Order: sequence, then C-alpha cells, then structure tokens
Amino acid sequence: MSTVYLNGQFMPIEQAKVSVLDRGFLFGDGVYEVIPAYGNHLLRLNEHLRRLQNSLDAVRINNPLSQQQWTEILQTLLAKNEGQDQSVYLQVSRGAAPVRDHAFAADLVATVFVMANPMKAVSREKLEPGVSAITLDDIRWKACNIKATALLANVLLRQQAAIEGAAEAILIRDGRATEGAASNVFIVQDGVIVTPPTSPMLLPGITRDLILELAHQNDMPCAERDISEADLRAASEIWLTSSTKEILPVISLDEQPVGNGRYGPIWGSMIDIYQAYKAKLRAGEIQ
Ligand code: PDD
Repeated sequence: MSTVYLNGQFMPIEQAKVSVLDRGFLFGDGVYEVIPAYGNHLLRLNEHLRRLQNSLDAVRINNPLSQQQWTEILQTLLAKNEGQDQSVYLQVSRGAAPVRDHAFAADLVATVFVMANPMKAVSREKLEPGVSAITLDDIRWKACNIKATALLANVLLRQQAAIEGAAEAILIRDGRATEGAASNVFIVQDGVIVTPPTSPMLLPGITRDLILELAHQNDMPCAERDISEADLRAASEIWLTSSTKEILPVISLDEQPVGNGRYGPIWGSMIDIYQAYKAKLRAGEIQ
C-alpha cells in the first residue's frame, strides 16, 4: 500500500479523500508536476518547482508551500515508498468552494496532493526498438505552457493514438508540430537536433531543456526553431521526450518509416549522454 501526502498529512492511499466540491474534481481547476527520482535523487527539482510556480501564477493560485516545504514532502514521500526509481506526481487544485461557480473567490484553501509511484528502469536497450506515432490536429487551448490538470484534449488525443496502435500523437497546429499529447518533440534535420521554441502552444518540458543543455555541453548541433509538418515528415530522426519516457525514438510516423525505420545515430549518442547523466545523479555526484 503506498503512502501519499494530502493537505499536511502522510497517509495510506486508501485513506486519502477529497471533497466532491473540490474544483479540481468539478472543473479540472488545478496544476501539477511529474518529477522522476533516481535512487531518491529528484531530477531537476528546482526547475520543476519553478515551472510549478509559473503554472500557479498563471491560474491565480497562491503557492501553498515554500520551496523547502515542497522539498521535504517529496523527500519524505520517496523514503516512505518503495522503488529504486520513482516518479513523484504532485497536484495543487484550487480547493472546495461552497457552491459550484466558474468564477472563484480568492480565499479558497488549495488542495495539495502528492504521490510517488515506482518507475520501471529505462535503459538504452529498452528504448532502442522505438515506437510508432501518428499526427493529429492540435485541438487544445492556447495556454499549453501551463501544466494544468485539465487534460481532456490530451487524453482524447493520446487515446486516438492508442486506438490506432501508436504510442503517441504528435500534434500539428497551423502547419507546425507543437509537441506530443504528453511529451515534447525533437527532430534531426541535416544532422541538427531541432525542437520548437517555447511558446504558449507547448509545455516547456524539463527533459527538453536538459537535452538542449546536454547537446550544447557535448558540442552536438542543436536549434530551437519551428518544425513544419513537411520538416517532420522528412526528418531523419524523431524523438519524444518526457520525465517518464526520457528520450524515445519514433521509428514510424503515420505508418511511414522515419529515416531508415530504426533509431538514428544522433539518438544513440544522446541516449548514452542522458543515461550517464542519470547515473551521476543516482550516485549523488550532481544535483
Ligand atoms: N507529461 N508536453 C506535455 C503535454 C506533457 O504532458 C509532458 C509531460 C511533456 C514533457 O515534460 P517533462 O519533460 O517536463 O516531463 C511535454 C507528464 C510526464 C505527464 O503528464 O505525466
């Protein structure tokens, strides 16, 4: 039985209950983060907490906890739960109001929920076979930089991919690839690693930023620029990135092979660099 954190207390997950009037339940009115931990070391904790603050500011919820309080809760939860590697899910919803009303009062007490789940170890060997993806029209709103719990469009888009036997949907807005339903997208174009610039049309992924940083450190050519649908279809490599997926090679797009239909050499270099980074984090050699 896993231990979770709810509004100031640690408890078995079965005992964690929230009001049916919670606006997270009624409106999807909340924000969240997913943070991987390798050997109890949280990956890019400061960056995740900064993005949480940005999401909270954007939806006008006061951050109910300080950076130090968040850190203590996350560390305690990792210690209370099992798993060499875990992913922490944290959510802040606006809380319960006495009546259902779209508009909200400023003085509601936010609901804070955190859980930790064991994460299957991701290795180069496990990722090498790659996945297939489909393209779909990006039907989401224009504030996708907010990590909001209201994910109905993402849920339906990912489900459509699953129905079509694909692992992910790559979303197209105004002729450009924005991101996946639950991941960021990269392509390799003429040997250059390319990902769209941050904008309200996509989530500023922590994994995305880490990959760009690692590419710079290792003198791998990379660029943040728009990816047209034509660029996507002509790419020699396509990758999907997220905290839980790490860097996943896409080997087929809309049933057409990507490159030669196998993972590409630049993915091969980057995944080794990423795994080495994780190993250092796990060993406590980096923060
Ligand atoms: N999602 N874009 C979207 C729409 C996402 O939902 C995610 C991650 C990402 C990648 O962000 P990061 O590298 O910070 O994980 C991009 C998480 C994992 C989820 O919803 O479970």
